Amino acid sequence: MEPEIVRVICIGGAAVDRKYRAMEPIQPGTSNPVSSGRSFGGVARNVGENIARLGAGAALISIVGNDENGHAMLDDLKRLGIGTNGMAISERQATAEYVAVLQPDGELALGLANMAVFDELTPALLRRSEAEFASSWLFADCNLPSETLHALVDLARGRSLMLAVDAVSTPKVTRLPRDLTGIGLFFLNLDEARAFLEAPDTAPDAAARALLAQGAERIVLTLGANGLLVADRTGIARIGATQARIVDATGAGDSLIAATLVAMLRGRPLDEAARLGTVAAALTVESPSSVRPDLSLALLETLLPLRAGPVREREPS
Ligand SMILES: Nc1ncnc2c1ncn2[C@@H]1O[C@H](COP(=O)(O)OP(=O)(O)OP(=O)(O)O)[C@@H](O)[C@H]1O
Ligand SMILES: [Mg+2]
Repeated sequence: MEPEIVRVICIGGAAVDRKYRAMEPIQPGTSNPVSSGRSFGGVARNVGENIARLGAGAALISIVGNDENGHAMLDDLKRLGIGTNGMAISERQATAEYVAVLQPDGELALGLANMAVFDELTPALLRRSEAEFASSWLFADCNLPSETLHALVDLARGRSLMLAVDAVSTPKVTRLPRDLTGIGLFFLNLDEARAFLEAPDTAPDAAARALLAQGAERIVLTLGANGLLVADRTGIARIGATQARIVDATGAGDSLIAATLVAMLRGRPLDEAARLGTVAAALTVESPSSVRPDLSLALLETLLPLRAGPVREREPS
């Protein structure tokens, strides 16, 4: 069943995450006893799940393989109340998978990724859902092929749609067009900003200004444990770190995006929305799962005054 009102359509990666944690330090070339588990990940999927948990309508446009992983993921999306009308099933490629082999202390020993199926997230696949775009906000991640990202940014610019984008990684952020006009809100970390700008030593404030100058309307530039910068035409503000005891850092950025979007949908200004986002991110790094099952807007509102970092004075952008 589709949620009654889809407020955010999330477009991009949906993957199965498998973690294998070794009982003893890993020995290459032989069999190592592990404990293991499967969960669902992918940036767009995680953002969609967080949005649904925060009580707003979410739908996902992505692709899975015609395999057990893919069917399990579709069932799970339905269970979460996330709209799946825009989901595609590939007959050629397996469901995207990320495998992490961890040392007993949790350090990554080996990562394996099969994301080939995302090549089939084409502009034609987007067009199937285009009729629904006018009444929703869009969120896209840079797991999408470059051609598809270009088509989405063009569409958002031409039809004045609200489009939020996450960079995902330093190689993937370069898939975006140089002209960012049409992107209403751009989430990225400092390394991704430097990669996009081809300016390896740029300071955070200068990077945010440069991204605005390239046409993005608003920027959320994240700085890991040091918080983030928000920037738009009216100024730049820094939001300080939220103290967190890290259990598993996966999913921090995804929960930050979801909470920021849900707060903005409810009419909050960018600075306040992103501050709520840092609380969601801190709660997520403190949880072993990449999306916290107990996340709610009420929980974030309660913790905001207790946990959110200070907002540094706004400066002109
Ligand atoms: N160690 C930490 N303590 C508290 N908050 C953190 C920590 N790490 C990340 N965060 C929160 O998560 C936000 C996003 O993290 P980060 O800047 O590392 O993005 P990222 O590298 O894109 O991460 P991700 O891989 O989750 O997308 C930060 O702005 C901050 O609010
Ligand atoms: Mg990120």
